[in-house]
Amino acid sequence: MIVANWKCNGSKTMIDAWFKNYIKDSEESNGVFIGIAPPTIYIERVANIAKKKSLQIKTGSQDIDISSGARTGAISIEMILDNNCYFSIIGHSERRELFSENNIEIRQKIIKIMDKTLPILCVGETLEDNKKDFTKDVLREQLEVINNLEFNNKLVIAYEPVWAIGSGLTPDPKDINEIHKFIKDVVQSNTNNSANPSVLYGGSVNSANAASFFNEDYVDGALVGGAALDGSSFAEIVNLFNGIKQ
Ligand code: PGA
Repeated sequence: MIVANWKCNGSKTMIDAWFKNYIKDSEESNGVFIGIAPPTIYIERVANIAKKKSLQIKTGSQDIDISSGARTGAISIEMILDNNCYFSIIGHSERRELFSENNIEIRQKIIKIMDKTLPILCVGETLEDNKKDFTKDVLREQLEVINNLEFNNKLVIAYEPVWAIGSGLTPDPKDINEIHKFIKDVVQSNTNNSANPSVLYGGSVNSANAASFFNEDYVDGALVGGAALDGSSFAEIVNLFNGIKQ
């Protein structure tokens, strides 16, 4: 599973160029889940182009709000479902940091969407936590948002160390593998029906380093920011994934 998080980037012109490059460089793939989370205002445009070009790309949202109604600027789950969204990223570190999202809201969002669309819950430690060797404690606390829930559909966790996002730095692939195993174990023990999540790695993934992550057993894919803004480099990452995991 490879998911592009475009964040607050893009334009109509960028989207057209993106698809041109993606189509030029993407190889035949066999059923792997390929997602794009564009800014909400472009979701329909991206979904329409993907459909017209018969690409297996699925669109999703970068967030949802906890409810609808008098909440200026918000996007509700109903709107997301009404607009070709197959997944929703929840609890990205930029939402936690810049929009002060906390575990209570993140849990509400997960509960709201878990039976309707695929949640991609982001977790990850700061550099300070990492240096103090607090990574597992921080992740355990962030993962409390799924405690005692029953996931009848798929759940995806994206492990995104905050210090690796957009920095060009990444953890050692072996350490990522160990953390992914830890995340799977925590989720399995704390959910009602022992959910078995897919775990993606995110944070400075690009076409030069992606293979080193995909070669690890517990890495089920990637959540890609900067390198997903260009159709060619995203296609290369998808090609690498197909070559290694399929
Ligand atoms: P990055 O972002 O690939 O640019 O580091 C990843 C993310 O924030 O999801």
